[in-house]
Amino acid sequence: MLVLLNRFFIVILIFLVPFSVFSEEKKIDLLETNWSFNGLFGTFDRASLQRGYQVYQEVCSGCHSVQHLSYRNLSEKGGPEFSIEEAKAFASQFEIEDGPNSEGEMFLRNAKLSDKFVKPYPNIEASTAANGGAYPPDMSVLAKARAGGVNYIYSLLLGYEEPPIDYKLDDGVYYNKYMPGNKIKMSEPISDGIVEYLDGTETTKEQIAKDVSTFLVWASEPHLESQHRMGFKVIIYLIILITLVYMSKQKVWSQFVTKKNEEEETFDKIEKVVTEYEGEDPKTFK
Ligand code: HEC
Repeated sequence: MLVLLNRFFIVILIFLVPFSVFSEEKKIDLLETNWSFNGLFGTFDRASLQRGYQVYQEVCSGCHSVQHLSYRNLSEKGGPEFSIEEAKAFASQFEIEDGPNSEGEMFLRNAKLSDKFVKPYPNIEASTAANGGAYPPDMSVLAKARAGGVNYIYSLLLGYEEPPIDYKLDDGVYYNKYMPGNKIKMSEPISDGIVEYLDGTETTKEQIAKDVSTFLVWASEPHLESQHRMGFKVIIYLIILITLVYMSKQKVWSQFVTKKNEEEETFDKIEKVVTEYEGEDPKTFK
């Protein structure tokens, strides 16, 4: 028994140690803001997603790809929900290489809804070379891949500050409060007014960071809203199922309880007769 208990504790320890190490690492408090998509009923703020797409295109897409998204995703339900015409217009602003044609040659054509987002560089090596030896990561799953998720991206975008005195920074390296190790090879990408929003929303740095972060969460989870709806349905289903199971359990067991009562009554009767009998003087017993 003791051996078993010991093993049990060892197994629990093995599971807990990585968690404690992990929580040690996440010491810096990330900035937070209220995200509309959090929680069981969370949905994306359409306007924010549309503005986020604009920020991505105008600011980030020069260095970062989002290779899993297609232009048609921009008009799908649960996303920025641009109209099909708008999405087509966005796509047609880009040229991609297609072919070969009947003469065996590759040619350039305008992008269509079915095409993936055009990448700024043909491959990782080219983008690393163009960015001073640092690779601007593809953003398709960035919001999921980093510890801290969307709050990390939001914080990182707002986390540029002057390095502490005597802090050594090489050329092309910047100080960021939220980057692990505080050194980042991306200069501060956003500032107040760097984009102009068509819907009149103020273009503060915080607003821009929030919009583009929202866009990146959607990019990494385009089906988040339908998953939330499904999760809600599953919970309702489970509640109904548990209620039914509980009710049938009550019903089934109630039979045994009444039966048991009957048995107890008969037993009581017998006992009564026996004590009455025992109490009598055997000599007078007829
Ligand atoms: C001039 C090119 C350039 C632009 C524009 C740019 N980035 Fe970057 N970004 C980089 C490079 C290079 C890195 C890699 C930095 C490193 O590893 O030190 C990076 C890294 C990142 C990271 C990851 C940090 C990590 O944890 O590894 C995030 C998040 C990010 N960029 C977001 C953005 C967003 C959002 C925008 C647009 C608002 C943007 N970037 C615009 C070049 C750029």
